[in-house]
Amino acid sequence: MIRVLRGNLISAPRLGKLDVVERGYLVLEDGVIQGVFDKLPETFATAPVTDYGEQLILQSFADMHLHAPQYPMLGMGMDLPLLDWLNTYAFPTEARFSDPDYARGVYRSLAGELIANGTTRVCMFSSLHTESTWVLMEELERAGVTGYVGKVNMDRNGAPGLLQESRSESVRETIRWLDGCRFEHVKPILTPRFTPSCSNELMTELGRIAAQRGLFVQSHLSENRDEIAWVRRLHPDCGHYWETYDKFGLWKDHTLMAHCVHSDEAERAAMRRSGVAAVHCPNSNVNICSGVCPVRQMLDEDVWVTLGSDIAGGDQLPMYRVITAAIRASKNRSIMDKWTTDFLTVEEAYYLGTTSGHRYFGAGEGFAAGDRLHAIVVDDSDLPPGGGPLSLIQRFERVIYLMSSRNITAVWSDGRCVAKKM
Ligand code: GUN
Ligand code: FE
Repeated sequence: MIRVLRGNLISAPRLGKLDVVERGYLVLEDGVIQGVFDKLPETFATAPVTDYGEQLILQSFADMHLHAPQYPMLGMGMDLPLLDWLNTYAFPTEARFSDPDYARGVYRSLAGELIANGTTRVCMFSSLHTESTWVLMEELERAGVTGYVGKVNMDRNGAPGLLQESRSESVRETIRWLDGCRFEHVKPILTPRFTPSCSNELMTELGRIAAQRGLFVQSHLSENRDEIAWVRRLHPDCGHYWETYDKFGLWKDHTLMAHCVHSDEAERAAMRRSGVAAVHCPNSNVNICSGVCPVRQMLDEDVWVTLGSDIAGGDQLPMYRVITAAIRASKNRSIMDKWTTDFLTVEEAYYLGTTSGHRYFGAGEGFAAGDRLHAIVVDDSDLPPGGGPLSLIQRFERVIYLMSSRNITAVWSDGRCVAKKM
């Protein structure tokens, strides 16, 4: 079925570039974009039109790193560095997800909030619990969130008796979980928590499973200096943190590495060579005092950079808040670098929070023909007046900084309208 959406269309096909079509037309056939037009082509003249008036039609957001079972501790424990924070707050919170009924309530509310805030694609960590991971996938699917979810693997340095598996349990449960994943829009991704959490034997098994089943991998990399020193002690044969994943076949195309705050030039070159994507999580980096990621340098070196909320190291679920945090972090980096590096513009940060993440799932640039539609509709009429008539670009900038879920009037995910007000 053909249908047409009309409104002010703004997308980011490339880093720093916006495509803007004022009161344009986006044509869909069975949820697949046929094109974006300033005048409706004659062939579509009889198709039904949803006219969003003066509202903005933007790309939806891709949150490429967050921990679903940390959602209950959002905004808590922000006074500790990573390793203490994990032991004191994160592990006990995640342990509660041994109960799938508890998980159901938390995950339903998380999935609803993601859609309400315009996040339609995710790469997410669950906990180590198989049943609750299925519950998470089910609740995302129900709400209209698409993407990847990983049952976490951790057979050492967790919380023994509370949140830790044996190696054989971890492998067995991973296979049971993978075999039980039958969701249309939410797929499994292998998720060794980070090198300190997984023995060499477990990493070897995970590398084998990834190869046998053709699975993508997500984990953490070079987030915090104490963590890096610990990894060095655990793997004295590895000159760099990234090699501790490579050793086991887990460093490959589409491997997703959260943070990379302290990745040096050699580690960044390894990312570029292998098609590994970095997930920059600016709120988390400040909250748990990890550092200020050199994002501009990564982009200049052609590293694939995406954005993540890193709930609950990050305290903000909405990706428009992560986008503005990335801009602020890059300005802090410019200040620290004595202005030798440029900070991110709004257009650039928006690209990182949208197209750069959507690419992970095979999408093209901006509202690309052939892609299933991932979009939000934003009513900015209740934002401060702005002191005169605003251009579309000015409205866009203001929306990215000031919007909240109340401004999002419709959400399209995988070609379906999954939420609408009115
Ligand atoms: N490294 C290992 N586990 C975690 C986690 O839960 N959050 C963050 N930010 N870093 C980690
Ligand atoms: Fe994380």
